[in-house]
Amino acid sequence: MEHRALSRLAAPAVAALLALTTACTGGPVQGRPGAAGLRDPYFPKAGNGGYQVEHYDLDLDYDPADGRLHGTAVITARAGQRLSSFNLDLSGLNVEGVTVQGAGARYNRTGNELTVRPAEDLEKGEVFRTEVDYAGRPKALTDADGAKEGWISTDDGAVGVGEPVGSMTWFPGNHHPSDKAAYDITITVPQGYEAVSNGELRSRTTDADGRTVFAWHNPEPMASYLATAVVGKYRVTTGRTPSGVALYNAVAPGEAAASAGVLARLPEMVEWAAGRFGPYPFGTAGAVVLPAGTLGYALETQTKPVFPGATDEETLLHELAHQWFGNSVSPKSWKDMWLNEGFATYAEWLWAEDHGGTTAQQEFDAFLAGDTDVDEDARSGWDAFPPAAPPGPEDISSQPVYVRGAMVLHRIRQEVGDEKFFALLRGWAADHRHGNASTADFTAYAQEKTGHDLKKVWDVWLYGKDRPE
Ligand code: ARG
Ligand code: ZN
Repeated sequence: MEHRALSRLAAPAVAALLALTTACTGGPVQGRPGAAGLRDPYFPKAGNGGYQVEHYDLDLDYDPADGRLHGTAVITARAGQRLSSFNLDLSGLNVEGVTVQGAGARYNRTGNELTVRPAEDLEKGEVFRTEVDYAGRPKALTDADGAKEGWISTDDGAVGVGEPVGSMTWFPGNHHPSDKAAYDITITVPQGYEAVSNGELRSRTTDADGRTVFAWHNPEPMASYLATAVVGKYRVTTGRTPSGVALYNAVAPGEAAASAGVLARLPEMVEWAAGRFGPYPFGTAGAVVLPAGTLGYALETQTKPVFPGATDEETLLHELAHQWFGNSVSPKSWKDMWLNEGFATYAEWLWAEDHGGTTAQQEFDAFLAGDTDVDEDARSGWDAFPPAAPPGPEDISSQPVYVRGAMVLHRIRQEVGDEKFFALLRGWAADHRHGNASTADFTAYAQEKTGHDLKKVWDVWLYGKDRPE
């Protein structure tokens, strides 16, 4: 009787238990596809879920004469879930083959998503190697604000730039700033051309066809939008800062004369910034001066910012400051852009203040007053929206992100005083070194570090819709 009652009750329970056991032991469980995007508030499809990249090994072969790029990307990543397939972001170009762990993998492409199906599921936690062979003439993208990014050709070569999503035009990857990785970028070019990329030049050799092979090594974590590859005729100079950071500058010949003066100040700028923000975060520094007009903006590409022609002191300093703010401490999402631009703009103000120019207080006051004496419309427009909430992707590089972002920092300085403010800047760079941070991380950190309640600054300056008084 007892036995019968038990079996009556037990049948469904046993079935349920069996199903549960199967689900937990992992045996017959199916891997799931990794997400096709990371749901960034401005670029929802950028990046991919289910894995994190540890290392990119890019082998790029570029012929300036016909504009063709041939690339092999070896991507070492760790699976964050059991994966049946995963995506890489890639725009344009032809994929010629994909292997995962050395075995041929199936793949297909929809829009900017390259979906890779390995022969076997990848286990959660597994470190796996994907090789993508690709070729074609890369196409630049037009950004939401009209700026060009991606692979951009010049008279005698090309430059690859990526902010915010242009890197997918020249290599497949997990193209979102939240996934940072180390890079080795090798570039093969015809004899007589230079090729420049992030980090340190490990070797410069000649291959069997007489082409020059440049092997660049960037060991520190890098967001993919900060990767660069520059090909063309350049004048290269190397050196060191007084404290020993290796410098590598490449300057388009037509820009050499106009660039010499400002580039001569780079060693001093690196030292000054290290004094203000803490140790320089990378092993190398430098600059690439592109032929005039190649781009409509300068970009803080890691260790070697690129400039669209000869630049000025403020811009050189701005891109240098990004090495701490943006490159070492990177945004968690594109909404956090003011953590890059507000800080780099404030660094320009500090540089001027420390070198007998306008003080940060004078800059702040001039913007607040809408004083256009100095520079026609440069001092208006900063109040269009709060820096922590750009209205859309077309606004992540607009003036409020830069200027009102810098004004947020100056308001903090006014509240807490110089000593705590500079300790805050250094602490922020140190505590998030080579990581990612959000606006919420910053506001919490600033309050904790300074011991001040800064809620009003956040409400009015960082998030407030109205023009602050
Ligand atoms: N981050 C670059 C800089 O500050 C500017 C990039 C501009 N990009 C754009 N799409 N408007 O220096
Ligand atoms: Zn900037």
